[in-house]
Amino acid sequence: MVTGAARKAVQKGRFMDLTSTVIVPLLFGSLGIFSLFRLLQWMRMRAYLRGAVVVVTGATSGLGKECAKAFHAAGSRLVLCGRDGEKLKDLAQELSAMTDHRKNIHKPHTVVFDLSDTKTILNAAEEILKHLGHVDILINNAGISYRGTIVDTSLDVDKKVMETNYFGPIALTKALLPSMIKRRQGHIVAISSIQGKISIPFRSAYAASKHATQAFFDCLRAEVEQYDIDVTVISPGYIQTNLSLNAVTADGSRYGVMDKNTAEGQTAAEVAQVVLYAVGQKKKEVLVAGLKPSLAVYLRNLFPRLFFNLMATRAKKERKTKDS
Ligand SMILES: NC(=O)c1ccc[n+]([C@@H]2O[C@H](COP(=O)([O-])OP(=O)(O)OC[C@H]3O[C@@H](n4cnc5c(N)ncnc54)[C@H](OP(=O)(O)O)[C@@H]3O)[C@@H](O)[C@H]2O)c1
Repeated sequence: MVTGAARKAVQKGRFMDLTSTVIVPLLFGSLGIFSLFRLLQWMRMRAYLRGAVVVVTGATSGLGKECAKAFHAAGSRLVLCGRDGEKLKDLAQELSAMTDHRKNIHKPHTVVFDLSDTKTILNAAEEILKHLGHVDILINNAGISYRGTIVDTSLDVDKKVMETNYFGPIALTKALLPSMIKRRQGHIVAISSIQGKISIPFRSAYAASKHATQAFFDCLRAEVEQYDIDVTVISPGYIQTNLSLNAVTADGSRYGVMDKNTAEGQTAAEVAQVVLYAVGQKKKEVLVAGLKPSLAVYLRNLFPRLFFNLMATRAKKERKTKDS
């Protein structure tokens, strides 16, 4: 007769057998396959970025500067764009000095132009193609922010923000696109913002320019897929840069304040790594934000009335703080 204790021992033995013959090998096997998959992904990414001609706008500061460093370290051939030639040269020198010659033998090229001036953009695109022959990856990063009430803001300010954040980047994209289509190869990146998905009071011009950016590059992605051209839209929350300091106000003057949210945001170097991986893995879009802002995006889409009420409350609160 089999006792209860003997039955338990047999069951335990069977469980141990199952653990050692099925569960453990399955676990290690899955881990192995996952690690191999990640390694292959990493190798493919490295191969994609190494030697690629990468154009970065707004390379003189913040996220653009950190993207330049990240892509340079990945072995890309950089074209640094900005309005200040001296700052670009300094960055090119800094990158060359930190070059590991086994990884990157390419000296960065610099191109000076203002995104709010379409003519200089077309000349810059011509210069880039003349010097480098082609562009593999275009990172539309440069931008300005805005603070003000709609009622007090002059239309010139709205236009300035749209010129810099929307018309400039799309003009550069359109100027470089034909050569990408001809090669049936290329990757266009737009640094948008979470404000391309939700609109926050007193940021109208900025939010509008980023919504337009999101819409344009979503359309572009669909239109150029047939030419094997990739489009990645990155939407960060807050990043510790000079963006709020450099923001324009209702009368066009510089805001000059480091906002609390900006100061407490992610570092530009962290976000640059997200950009590097998103490009390397050819992601279509990436939201780089914490829980609260990410929830706000879902709220806007799923419960719009609640979102609108929250924004109205926020506007009243901000106005009260400003008036007091
Ligand atoms: N910081 C954030 O919290 C945050 C959040 C979401 C998205 N973003 C986006 O990230 C991108 C980079 O901004 P950032 O945070 O790094 O700010 P930033 O430090 O102020 O850098 C902005 C860059 O854009 C350039 N730029 C501005 N106006 C230009 C123009 N008319 N023509 C050419 N270049 C111009 C600036 O050049 P100068 O040096 O000549 O001024 C600078 O290099 C922007 O598109 C911004 O909207 C930022």
